[in-house]
Amino acid sequence: MAILVTGGAGYIGSHTTVELLKKGYEVVVMDNLYNSSKIALDRVEQITGKKVKFYEVDMRDKEADRKIFQENNIDCVIHFAGMKAVGESVRIPLDYYDNNIGGTITLLEVMKEFNVKTILFSSSATVYGGKATVPFYEDSPLGVTNPYGATKLMIEHILNDLYISDPEWNISLLRYFNPVGAHESGLIGEDPKGIPNNLMPYIAQVATGKLPMLHVYGNDYDTIDGTGVRDYIHVVDLALGHIAALEYCTKPGVHIYNLGTGKGVSVLEMLHAFEKACGKELPYVIDPRRPGDIATCYANVDLAKKELHFEAKRTVEDMCRDTWNWQKNNPNGYRS
Ligand code: NAD
Ligand code: WQD
Repeated sequence: MAILVTGGAGYIGSHTTVELLKKGYEVVVMDNLYNSSKIALDRVEQITGKKVKFYEVDMRDKEADRKIFQENNIDCVIHFAGMKAVGESVRIPLDYYDNNIGGTITLLEVMKEFNVKTILFSSSATVYGGKATVPFYEDSPLGVTNPYGATKLMIEHILNDLYISDPEWNISLLRYFNPVGAHESGLIGEDPKGIPNNLMPYIAQVATGKLPMLHVYGNDYDTIDGTGVRDYIHVVDLALGHIAALEYCTKPGVHIYNLGTGKGVSVLEMLHAFEKACGKELPYVIDPRRPGDIATCYANVDLAKKELHFEAKRTVEDMCRDTWNWQKNNPNGYRS
């Protein structure tokens, strides 16, 4: 029996593949390498000493999807594949709807054909929209503010409807907060194309000197130091959260969990923690607020603790140390 990991060459997918292999699961990875490199999977093999069966396939290609299910005894899918940049989704919404929603529907149709009815889906804290108040609970009000978020919420609806139509489905909707960090080996990590949109990879590139300074988006929020507060979760903890969901969500249903730490960290707190990790001062300027940003976002994580027996253990110091270790060893990501 094997687990199909879609988007398994990507940032979270590669770290989850490592943890799955370490636990003895057989893994098949499907990825079209749109935002990732095959080298990530070579590194996964190096870390684990195990082979990963890889299909370079676009999930929208139904025939190619079928071939994966024909050639492997898949009993569960962990579905990471998708496009994920909020700003880009505003510029090219049709690509986002086609890839994320269209691709997921194609995948689900093939799963149904092969009677594979267990799926863990990468959802996001972005589905909590603007109406919910912190901390976000799994039953907080939902709503989205951009096409990327709309694809995540729509896929949640699609999966809910699928379960209503056929209660044999076992669906986990995992809502990630802000994944950061890298594997402690420094062999795999986040490798954004071009200038990073997200805070942690941006800071990491300031630390290597690739970018001149951090632009802090606003210091007039109602937070500890005026800068935005987020719930950063180490990517290895996040990977372990998937294993917990795999092992505890064994019955049909729609299982929804926040995966975060439950703690908020400000932009300047993160910057200063990174300075400690890399041993130098990092230049920054205060810029205006970034449109669409909220002041504070963090999870209530009681449900995952109670039902999945999962708790993120890694600290902000661990996140910065591991990001720095990855970044300094791979200043140009997998092209280094
Ligand atoms: P990533 O871009 O590193 O990984 C996604 C992978 O999917 C990439 O390897 C990409 O090549 C692949 N992919 C995209 N479209 C595909 C297609 N049509 N067919 C096959 N493969 C395809 O991103 P990530 O940070 O690892 O995110 C993984 C998932 O988690 C995504 O669905 C993302 O939306 C979700 N998520 C990410 C974050 C975050 O901040 N990183 C937060 C919440 C949710
Ligand atoms: C974090 C904080 C910024 C960059 C995004 C998506 C979300 C999810 C995770 C997928 C904020 C500040 C950032 C910079 C800064 N992805 N910042 N300077 O916006 O919380 O979430 O990624 O689902 O959907 O929206 O993450 O890392 O971009 O920002 O000051 O150069 O850092 O304003 O307060 P965000 P982020």
